[in-house]
Amino acid sequence: MCGIVGYTGPRDAGPVLLDGLRRLEYRGYDSAGIALVTDNGDLFVEKRAGKVAVLTDALGGGPPSAGIGLGHTRWATHGRPSDLNAHPHSDCTGRITVIHNGIVENFRELRDELVAGGHTLKSETDTEVVAHLVEDAYKGDLADAVRVALGRLEGAYALVVMHRDEPQRLVGARLNAPLIVGLGDGESFVASDAAAIIAYTKRVIFLADGDVADLTPGTATITDRLGVVVDRPIDIIPWSAEAAEKGGYAHFMLKEIHEQPAALTAAMTGRLRGESVRLEELDGIRTRLSGIDRVELIACGTAYYASLVGAALFQDWLGVPARSTVASEFRYSPPPIDARTLVVAVTQSGETADTIAAARLAGDRGAVVVAVTNTVGSAITRESHASVFLQAGPEVAVAATKTFVTQVATVVMLAADIAHQLGRLPAETERDLVGALRRLPEQAERAIELSVAAEEIADRYASAAGFMYIGRSFGYPAALEGALKIKEISYLHAEGYAAGELKHGPISLLDAEVPLVAIATRSAVYEKLISNLMEGKARDARVLAVATEGDDQIGRLATDVLWVPDTIEPLSTILAVIPLQLFAYYVAVKRGRDVDQPRNLAKSVTVE
Ligand code: F6R
Repeated sequence: MCGIVGYTGPRDAGPVLLDGLRRLEYRGYDSAGIALVTDNGDLFVEKRAGKVAVLTDALGGGPPSAGIGLGHTRWATHGRPSDLNAHPHSDCTGRITVIHNGIVENFRELRDELVAGGHTLKSETDTEVVAHLVEDAYKGDLADAVRVALGRLEGAYALVVMHRDEPQRLVGARLNAPLIVGLGDGESFVASDAAAIIAYTKRVIFLADGDVADLTPGTATITDRLGVVVDRPIDIIPWSAEAAEKGGYAHFMLKEIHEQPAALTAAMTGRLRGESVRLEELDGIRTRLSGIDRVELIACGTAYYASLVGAALFQDWLGVPARSTVASEFRYSPPPIDARTLVVAVTQSGETADTIAAARLAGDRGAVVVAVTNTVGSAITRESHASVFLQAGPEVAVAATKTFVTQVATVVMLAADIAHQLGRLPAETERDLVGALRRLPEQAERAIELSVAAEEIADRYASAAGFMYIGRSFGYPAALEGALKIKEISYLHAEGYAAGELKHGPISLLDAEVPLVAIATRSAVYEKLISNLMEGKARDARVLAVATEGDDQIGRLATDVLWVPDTIEPLSTILAVIPLQLFAYYVAVKRGRDVDQPRNLAKSVTVE
């Protein structure tokens, strides 16, 4: 969703904000804007529809010199992307400016009330009402006014507010949308995530819902909405500014695909002990885990596909019913949940609104909730009894890659750990699993090397009318994820299907223009999959297979093959997806798409 950054301190604020916006742009890129209180005491606002580069161009010789300011990059919810609807938004006096991520759900009612009270609102956004509410509440103290205004808002927000007459002060607030405070030496930052400020400071406070942050250069006072001071710990961001740079790759996505071997190593660090899997993060909830009789996984998008692997293994290894449901369906049609239900929320960002709401509902109904997330301090960790981190490092490209493979590896380890605790995982199965996990980073490296053909193959498939991806068992999540990658970044339609379902309808889509992509890695269902592949071939579809090295029949059956190393079936999803990521990447590049920032998308979806 939208990206937010604010600065107050001795540096020239304009460049700090523009740098932050470029790093946050993956959160949303419909429009961008900055507001500064200049060294002359004027309020300067520039905002443009389009990417941060359009804003930078509009600023020509650069923004005026200032020690304080706000910046915003938008993913439109209310009001189409336009210069007018871009943030920051100001009040009637032009002294107060606001940036916002989230949705003010009662904004129509507030807008009518403000207009009736004599205010003039210029944009179509929900955000603008906040500037006018603060204007009405302002009696000389910005933090007090913001707290009063917050009392009127329903919905979700991460907000930062600045007043021209208090030229060293920023006030931030959060409810169901991420916001962090950065503490520098004699300077303060506020941002939606650490990427925006990591180049300046690693010391951060993750604000909790209901917090209001009152910032001046070098001071940060956190209160609740009534003004009572609350104590929040200072955390240190564990990664460097370079981790969020492209490092010589053409795109973040390509860099992150190549980072997967290292990300898998990091995800397993400290978790493989001899021949066992051990997640220390679960130690505080072991008693509760010993009584579980059902597992529900909840997630969205790519994380949902990763969670399917977890569901299969929980069911297999624990011998209890386990399934995965997309969070937006789970929350409005929840299954029976009680204290014996384990709910696993899988979310890279830890900020996905639907996943958080579903986890909260499960927690309220007594379930034991475990988060699997990449983001320390994220909202999902507060909804969970235990959090298991992916340790994958920052992922900047909008299309998830390294967080998918680490999510799969982590849910596999989670299922193994709990099955071991319950005494239901045969020692031999665990030994084989640990051995395969240890080999995985090297095999992921090999899968990348073997995918050297992906670029040339993509060249021949880039003009296809669409794609049908099929897989069975652990190949099915790989098919879903492979199809999603194509959709997201090349804007071609791609369907991910359970291979056995092909003949029940979607086979009619196949022809010479719509290739079949078959996940045909070694498995117990290999022969069945081959039958489905042949069904597609018989309809004149070109067949691109992902197959295991050493398979000497697939070359005769498929038009093209992308090879991966052999592994145990539960981990085959991880290796099979790697060539599909590269294939999608090169198709998108050939089609001239904006790989890292595809249209209409945002990296973390903090609205329902
Ligand atoms: C696809 C992608 C999305 C996310 C989904 C959930 O490449 O990134 O489908 O997986 O929006 O996001 P998280 O994992 O942050 O909850």
